[in-house]
Amino acid sequence: MASAQPLFLRACRGEPTERRPLWLMRQAGRYLPEYREVRAQISFLDLCKHPELACEVTLQPIRRFGFDAAILFSDILVPVEAMGCPVVFPDPGGPMLPQPVRVPADIERLRVPDPAAEMPFVLEALRRVRAALAPATALIGFAGAPVTLASYMVEGGSSKNFTLLKGLLHGAPAAARLLLGKLADTVALYLAAQVEAGAQAVQLFDTWAGMLAPDDYSEFALPYTAQIVSALRARSVPVIVYVNGGGTLLERVARTGCDVVGLDWRIDIAEARARLGPERPVQGNLDPCVLLSTPEVVARKARTIGAAAGARGHIFNLGHGVLPETPLASVEALVEAVRDLP
Ligand code: CP3
Repeated sequence: MASAQPLFLRACRGEPTERRPLWLMRQAGRYLPEYREVRAQISFLDLCKHPELACEVTLQPIRRFGFDAAILFSDILVPVEAMGCPVVFPDPGGPMLPQPVRVPADIERLRVPDPAAEMPFVLEALRRVRAALAPATALIGFAGAPVTLASYMVEGGSSKNFTLLKGLLHGAPAAARLLLGKLADTVALYLAAQVEAGAQAVQLFDTWAGMLAPDDYSEFALPYTAQIVSALRARSVPVIVYVNGGGTLLERVARTGCDVVGLDWRIDIAEARARLGPERPVQGNLDPCVLLSTPEVVARKARTIGAAAGARGHIFNLGHGVLPETPLASVEALVEAVRDLP
């Protein structure tokens, strides 16, 4: 049927599909030689701000592997910079925020940016990708979830124990709520603008929410993510919420109202489905390190996950992003194995 919705979108809605959709978190990146070639010419943040090149690297994994969805090439910290909190990416190395947000005055100064005025390059990249993609390939927009973005802003970069963030949550909850509220407003506007520019589904990356005690997830993560999900309801695009380390939080994640629950690799996918119920589609959850083994092992592990998840309402993905050292042959083996799943 020429008019059928992309496979990926039908699976997000829990509809039966002729095969299982597949895409990979961080599918555009350093494991691809064609990505490394582009990155040799331009810094990571400049690449995010260059619509033509961002479009090109978004399409690279689609051309090579024929994934069922493309995900915008950008970073969760782009809107943080637009809020007035500068971000640098030392090369190599993780992100650094040289002016972290620590006291109420820092939080009061932050803006809720207008995406069209302050992040036009993101919207332009999405328009270009949508125009270049085949109709059967879905385009996913994304943002970081509020508590994950707050962790970078308060800690000033990646963290091990999140002592400064947790100090704010427990020691100055009113200030923490002001920050999380501004982030939720920012992300809701940002994702709505992405949908307007061509994103057909959106994923919230809550990479660090798994470090919260369940009660604290309910207080400091769930309501803000739920606010974003509910703001997107009028746009009728599926919303995927991925919480890394979220195995103990699944029911709470579902309470955000998301359409699809993204799973990391630490949880048995059959157990996750039993806890969430058959009506809640899930995405995941192969350990990215499995791709560092052989094509045979990749195929076998993919079949195990496929059988445990069941065909309906399962979007195949990794449990976290593709690692830079991943061999291309492993990704090819995964694509083949998922194609053959019932
Ligand atoms: O999935 C995709 O292909 C889209 C692109 C994408 C990137 N970052 C590109 C990227 C997405 C969806 C992200 C989200 C992101 N960024 C997250 C959430 C997902 C996750 O991994 O948990 C987080 C926590 C960040 C912040 C971030 N950006 C970190 C910690 C790092 C450094 C780690 C590393 O791999 O070097 C980045 C840099 C980054 N973001 C790269 C890419 C391709 C590597 C930059 C390079 O080319 O040198």
